[in-house]
Amino acid sequence: MKNVMLGGTGLSVSPMTLGTWGIGGAGWDDYPDDVRMDAIAAAVESGINFIDTAPAYNAGEAERFIGKTLEQTGNRGKVVIATKCGNRFIDGKYVRSGKPENIFAECEDSLKNLRTDHIDVMLVHWPDPTVPFSETFGALSQLKAEGKIRHVGVSNFSREQIMEARKTIEIEVVQLQYSMFNRENEELLKWAHGEGIGTMAYGALCGGLLTGRYRKVETYEPADSRNRFYGRFFQEPFFSKAMEMLDAMQPIADRHGADLAEVALNWARQKEFVDTCIVGAQKRSRVEANVKGYAWQLAESELSELETAMQRILC
Ligand SMILES: NC(=O)c1ccc[n+]([C@@H]2O[C@H](COP(=O)([O-])OP(=O)(O)OC[C@H]3O[C@@H](n4cnc5c(N)ncnc54)[C@H](OP(=O)(O)O)[C@@H]3O)[C@@H](O)[C@H]2O)c1
Repeated sequence: MKNVMLGGTGLSVSPMTLGTWGIGGAGWDDYPDDVRMDAIAAAVESGINFIDTAPAYNAGEAERFIGKTLEQTGNRGKVVIATKCGNRFIDGKYVRSGKPENIFAECEDSLKNLRTDHIDVMLVHWPDPTVPFSETFGALSQLKAEGKIRHVGVSNFSREQIMEARKTIEIEVVQLQYSMFNRENEELLKWAHGEGIGTMAYGALCGGLLTGRYRKVETYEPADSRNRFYGRFFQEPFFSKAMEMLDAMQPIADRHGADLAEVALNWARQKEFVDTCIVGAQKRSRVEANVKGYAWQLAESELSELETAMQRILC
């Protein structure tokens, strides 16, 4: 996997980032701890040097798995870590707080959990409109000046909110949902890329729906991400359209001897405005299968074929 530059940060990162929401262990299928940690080790062994996490991923559990794995494998120096702040997971609920005292406390916790002395990329997880951005990003300016964080970014912010945040500090990275099934952020990603901001696309597999492993509507626990965060995709009326789209993708996958997930990942990562796709996987075999997709690319004609199918089926 050939590294790319993350916007203007000067960071050289893999075009696939390991996503660790699932690895944290809340809202996703359950795997033993050693399997989750092995997925992190597998990612680094496979050439992934960028790991995305957050304190909100099971109240720091994902960060702790990363910290432990990188310490055991001696790989901290090889990876770029993005974590987040302003959103906590308390008693099964996600609670936003952009207050400076919260930002400082979360940063200290993340440093401890990740067993590191600095965070490469610190993102504000979700905007908290109840706190002036000057205060939230003022806190991040202070952390940057202290050397605890190296680069500052935002996740799930609108263009207007990014402009507002920029009045206090340079926003170097954005993280937004983007996949064949959810193109709502396409214009924002294009704009951010044009501004020299590093772009991280999350959910390129739409929570696993684009892998083809789900073929019927199922019932999930209320807190399950397939019920909550990606819920509208896993339910009708979208689900049937998703199945039709997978059928349209299958001949392309077959042509390349590839999985549907590889087609979905290539579609997203081949966009010039996407620097890296964050892909969640909790076990080694999945990480390795997804990395395989980065060894080939969709031809222009195949991208057009997919575009036509998307316009027909999803719009
Ligand atoms: N900033 C934000 O607000 C935000 C929001 C959502 C996500 N994110 C970040 O982006 C990352 C990626 O998003 P995501 O994890 O929500 O969704 P995703 O990457 O679109 O999908 C993850 C799901 O796909 C499954 N999967 C992965 N590779 C597979 C394969 N080859 N075959 C079959 N199934 C496969 C995983 O299964 P297993 O779990 O069983 O391995 C998991 O259920 C997150 O982990 C997180 O780091 C950020």
